[in-house]
Amino acid sequence: MHLIHLTLFSLFFIYIDGKRRCLTNCTVTGLIGQPLHIPDRCDQYTKASDCQVDIQFHYYDRRYTVIFSTAFVEYYYRSLYITITNILSYTAMFACGNSDNCATDFARKKVVDLSNRTINARNVINQLRPLLSEHRQSPLRCYDNEECTGICKIRVKTDKNQLDQRKCAAINQPQVHVFDGGDLPILDIECNRTKCNSFETADQVKQILYQNNLTDINGRINRGQKNSVSILLLLFFINFFIQLI
Ligand SMILES: *[C@@H]1O[C@H](CO)[C@@H](O)[C@H](O)[C@H]1NC(C)=O
Ligand SMILES: *[C@@H]1O[C@H](CO)[C@@H](O)[C@H](O)[C@H]1NC(C)=O
Ligand SMILES: *[C@@H]1O[C@H](CO)[C@@H](O)[C@H](O)[C@H]1NC(C)=O
Ligand SMILES: *[C@@H]1O[C@H](CO)[C@@H](O)[C@H](O)[C@H]1NC(C)=O
Repeated sequence: MHLIHLTLFSLFFIYIDGKRRCLTNCTVTGLIGQPLHIPDRCDQYTKASDCQVDIQFHYYDRRYTVIFSTAFVEYYYRSLYITITNILSYTAMFACGNSDNCATDFARKKVVDLSNRTINARNVINQLRPLLSEHRQSPLRCYDNEECTGICKIRVKTDKNQLDQRKCAAINQPQVHVFDGGDLPILDIECNRTKCNSFETADQVKQILYQNNLTDINGRINRGQKNSVSILLLLFFINFFIQLI
């Protein structure tokens, strides 16, 4: 009972203290290399605990999309999505509560930063293609040597370089997906080549991503940047201090 009371109090505290003015209901598109220009039609602001922005860079098409909205907690996730049908996208999902319009400031910087990266999408995809596909007459086999009617999949936890799953998956095209920023950073490879869901393929994919400036050698995206304190941790500390008083 006591704890519930304190938690409610903490939530109330966050509620009254943590309101930010955030740009919302706004989607902006641009060409990579051009700075972020927020048009006049984006004039809706709202109070929220956190401001949110999704930044999607489509390197193959040389375009970007930035979407402003609001969130309940702070986070910073990054992902990479690559297919052999000419998609190479980098997405940053960011939510902050430290100041009004913090997401807008972040987006402006990030657009410049991502525009300045030298990414040759055509190269990346050409290098990945032979690892992710093959010409084959016989049915597909995946590890552990099972026949597969979908395509082979391997998921590696990139913080510990550990195998997470390896199976036959019902996915309709070969692709690579890197996710980073949460508690479970992962590299997913879905490939249409005999027994391609192996550590060897994962290492080769990591090499290609690393050599093309997309990840570090372990398949992590910008590991140097710290993640924000989670809301649960924040609640814990607030409760802790209240108990001290
Ligand atoms: C969002 O903005 C568009 C115009 O940019 C407007 O037509 C639409 O009604 C807005 N939606 C909300 C939920 O305010
Ligand atoms: C990005 O590149 C422009 C010129 O192309 C340069 O003026 C700017 O300093 C660079 N910004 C960063 C953050 O590297
Ligand atoms: C996998 O490759 C085979 C032959 O190489 C092809 O017939 C099939 O359509 C491919 N499947 C997917 C999901 O790409
Ligand atoms: C990686 O980035 C550096 C610095 O921006 C650039 O000189 C180099 O050409 C890039 N490498 C590739 C393979 O694009």
